[in-house]
Amino acid sequence: MPFIEWDEKYSVNVKEIDEQHKGLFQMMNDLNDAVAAGKAQEIIDATVHKMIEYAKVHFTTEEKYMTKFNYHDYPVHKAEHDKFSIKVMEMNGRLKAGVYIMSTEIARLLKDWLTNHILVTDKKYSAYFNENGLI
Ligand SMILES: [Fe+2]
Ligand SMILES: [Fe+2]
Repeated sequence: MPFIEWDEKYSVNVKEIDEQHKGLFQMMNDLNDAVAAGKAQEIIDATVHKMIEYAKVHFTTEEKYMTKFNYHDYPVHKAEHDKFSIKVMEMNGRLKAGVYIMSTEIARLLKDWLTNHILVTDKKYSAYFNENGLI
C-alpha cells in the first residue's frame, strides 16, 4: 500500500499540473518503500536528481501560466519555487562532495512542500487559472 496516495483534495483543477504533482507523490512513495526495504541510501542520489528535474519542468510550467495570465501573486509564488530549487541544488552539492544525506531530510522536505506549497500556494491559483480557460 502506498505511503501517501494522491486524492482529489490535492487537485488544483488543472489536469497537466495535477499530473506533474503526482510525480511528487511517486517520489515520496518510492523513497518510503526504499526506507522500508532498508535500501534508502541506494536511491538517495536518484531521488535528488528526480527532484531537480521535477523542479525544472514543473516550476517552468506553473510560471509559464502565471506569466501568461498575469497572475498577481507571481513574485511570491516564484520565490517559493526558487527557495525549493536552491535547497535541492544544495543537497545535490553535498552529495557530490560525498556527504551522507539522510532519507528523512528528503522526506521532510517533500512532505513540507506538499503541505505548505501545493496545498496552500498552488491552490491559490486554481480558480484564477480556471477563469482564464485552463482546466
Ligand atoms: Fe506545483
Ligand atoms: Fe507552485
